[in-house]
Amino acid sequence: MNNIYKRPAWVEVNLDNFINNMTVIKNTLSPGTEILSVVKADGYKIGAVTLVREAIKLGIKNFAVATESEAMLLRKEFKDINILKLGYTPNYQIEESIDNNISSTIYTLEQAKTFNEIAKKLNKKAKIHISIDTGMSRIGFQPNDDSIEKIVEIFKLKNLEIKGVFSHFASADYDKNFTKKQFDTFTNFIDELESRGCHFEYRHIANSASILCHREYDLDLVRPGIIQFGYTDTDKPAEFYNLKPLVSVKAEISNVKYIEKDVSVGYSRTYFTNKKTKVVTLPIGYADGFPRILSGKIDILINGVKCPQIGLICMDQLMVDATGVECEIGDTAVLIGKQKNEEIRICDFCEISGDCETSFLTHLDKRLPRIYYKDGKVVDILEI
Ligand SMILES: Cc1ncc(COP(=O)(O)O)c(C=O)c1O
Repeated sequence: MNNIYKRPAWVEVNLDNFINNMTVIKNTLSPGTEILSVVKADGYKIGAVTLVREAIKLGIKNFAVATESEAMLLRKEFKDINILKLGYTPNYQIEESIDNNISSTIYTLEQAKTFNEIAKKLNKKAKIHISIDTGMSRIGFQPNDDSIEKIVEIFKLKNLEIKGVFSHFASADYDKNFTKKQFDTFTNFIDELESRGCHFEYRHIANSASILCHREYDLDLVRPGIIQFGYTDTDKPAEFYNLKPLVSVKAEISNVKYIEKDVSVGYSRTYFTNKKTKVVTLPIGYADGFPRILSGKIDILINGVKCPQIGLICMDQLMVDATGVECEIGDTAVLIGKQKNEEIRICDFCEISGDCETSFLTHLDKRLPRIYYKDGKVVDILEI
């Protein structure tokens, strides 16, 4: 008998490792640089509210999300933190943002004017960070003379409180020359704006890979994402930086049976046994975040033994060849994490699927309950 959650498949989140990682990041930064913790996509699907609660205890007060609803989720729980929305704010969400003291990203003069008008009607000031496109070609003002003139205009708008300016590295992990070029473009552009009387409290460009590899790009804020959760996008593994993974994924064994040689397993009959086989079924599948592309290519830990997954992964179930391994219905299998002396890591899957850890994490579906551990005890549970 395992834990009683809404599903017999779940995600375990190690909050001690989160505290460890945030402390590593804090200790790495240049003096005076603060953390703007990126917890978009519900904290990379780990659970933003629980993570922010822990981060606040470590003295972190700035948090970034992607969307208005993510910002509101945090604002309902935390009245005093600074929240920056890094993505696009459609006009119909501006009023809610201003009313709830959420900072928004802008990158056109028209947006700035609309924010200003709405703030004026509300008799408030809209908090703004200006985005500069130095190489992602995503959102942001182009770093040119025309943008300088537009930003100078934005600074004249009375109901805006312009808090910061930021850009985003496209390849801080691998392309050092391009990263330096982006940084120089960004800081030269800010110097030009400063000379025109536009001052910013917060300048920020560094993401995880930059935080690990480039002290010189720290500026006023850094925006760590994936390293907070114990994963890296750099050529060195997370352990090299003393970062520890937060996430394990486990499932209760739902069926154990023997089938004969030459029997097919799963949809489309892509796999046939080559021996009498002990088949273990787990109640977890591609709708939970284990994509079909991994079918037949991954191992799963059963009783501390790496066992090959067989047949196509189904939406809600998958099968494993556990021949020779002692196990029964109700035992816990580990899809990500440690069991006895063995470990399966997200990066093992990424090597197969060509995915990255960030993407894999954000596909772990909400229907897997999140169980939060601290000091070895369950301190919170998030279930839908
Ligand atoms: C604007 C911005 N800043 C920071 C981050 C965090 O990136 P990382 O997870 O590489 O630290 C992201 C993530 O996509 C982002 O879009």
